[in-house]
Amino acid sequence: VNGLDEGTTIHFHGIRLPLAMDGVPGLTQDAVPPGGSFAYDFDLPDAGTFWYHPHANSAEQVGRGLYGALVVEERDPPRVDKDIVWVLDDWRLNEQAQLMPFGHRHDESHAGRLGNIATVNGDPDPVLQLRAGERVRLRLVNAANARVFALTFEGHAPTIVACDGQPCTPYQPNGGQIVIGPAQRVDAIFDASGDPGARFRVIDGYYEQQRYQLADIVYDAAAPIRENPLDARIALPVNPLPAPDVAHAVRQEVVLAGGAMFGMGMNMNPDMGGGHGMHHQQMPTMGMDIDLEAMVKRGRFWAINGVDAGHDSIPEPMMRVDLGRTVVLAMHNHTEWDHPMHLHGHSFRVMTHNGHALDREEWRDTVLLAPHDTAEVAFVADNPGTWMFHCHILEHQMSGMTTVVEVG
Ligand code: C2O
Ligand code: CU
Repeated sequence: VNGLDEGTTIHFHGIRLPLAMDGVPGLTQDAVPPGGSFAYDFDLPDAGTFWYHPHANSAEQVGRGLYGALVVEERDPPRVDKDIVWVLDDWRLNEQAQLMPFGHRHDESHAGRLGNIATVNGDPDPVLQLRAGERVRLRLVNAANARVFALTFEGHAPTIVACDGQPCTPYQPNGGQIVIGPAQRVDAIFDASGDPGARFRVIDGYYEQQRYQLADIVYDAAAPIRENPLDARIALPVNPLPAPDVAHAVRQEVVLAGGAMFGMGMNMNPDMGGGHGMHHQQMPTMGMDIDLEAMVKRGRFWAINGVDAGHDSIPEPMMRVDLGRTVVLAMHNHTEWDHPMHLHGHSFRVMTHNGHALDREEWRDTVLLAPHDTAEVAFVADNPGTWMFHCHILEHQMSGMTTVVEVG
């Protein structure tokens, strides 16, 4: 039931559901008017950590906090003592602690709306209460419009067991730092190895020179609940994802262009365009020769393959693919900014990042490309319909970085 005074929908981010339930106004349904209602009704094919949010006037509706976590439980979950959800967000507040106005052109053409206060589940001073010896599953959901988080849990060594709701080969991230872009999720498992009464900090260090403490880890005084760490599996049971047939895939180049300082650092990354990976290729120039000045006159800053889409209309599909075919999306970020690229209706396997093949199995619905990054992802186009593919920095999405993929 829409209690807002503007139209809205609910998009169930990452859930592989039928198109009619996908919650994209003008594409899968009409926006639900104020006072109207719409029944979302679908099955849940995959266990994991998901979330939901509106897909109308997204930067403001999501930016004001209209979202929630959606946890689909495994039939046979790994054994843990605590299963905790942390929804991360940031807020841009003025001196009176009121939200600053939305819709800044500067945010749209730069990093998106970054806040000045970060929260966990809405709390600006979050505390993770632990008892020594327990095993914890922490489900991180990044609900921020634009902020990338890179979290370290001092004194602890989290193992990542799922990304974007899909189980991965368990691994310990580089330097213990969990990087999570807008809309992404991470499930991490760790043992509370600190002593009773101990305190640690959770640090967010993604943006250079802006490291800050996000949360406290506080152990209660009680004796450890067990002598030795739990001896039990941490890997999650697999979800029924179709295996991509990469050898017979349809390959689609995806060139991200635009934004402030566009065209400046074109030779920054020696790995740009691959060269060390399995799929050696030339750097595509198609889609790079955009007329940024003309775009800005139309109120757009970003383009995918040369096309800048508005948030008020659905563009021509970036690609059309037959139902059941494997698709490889080869993404090239030719901009100076981060872009978490999200595909609706499917999960994809991340094959390469900056030309290097991943040494683990990792599935996602949103892949984060730092400036001048490349990534190749593969998926079976098994869900018929016209699906959104867009940047999940919501100010970028609404100022051009949106397209659709037609399946079937
Ligand atoms: Cu999280 Cu197009 O959505
Ligand atoms: Cu973006």
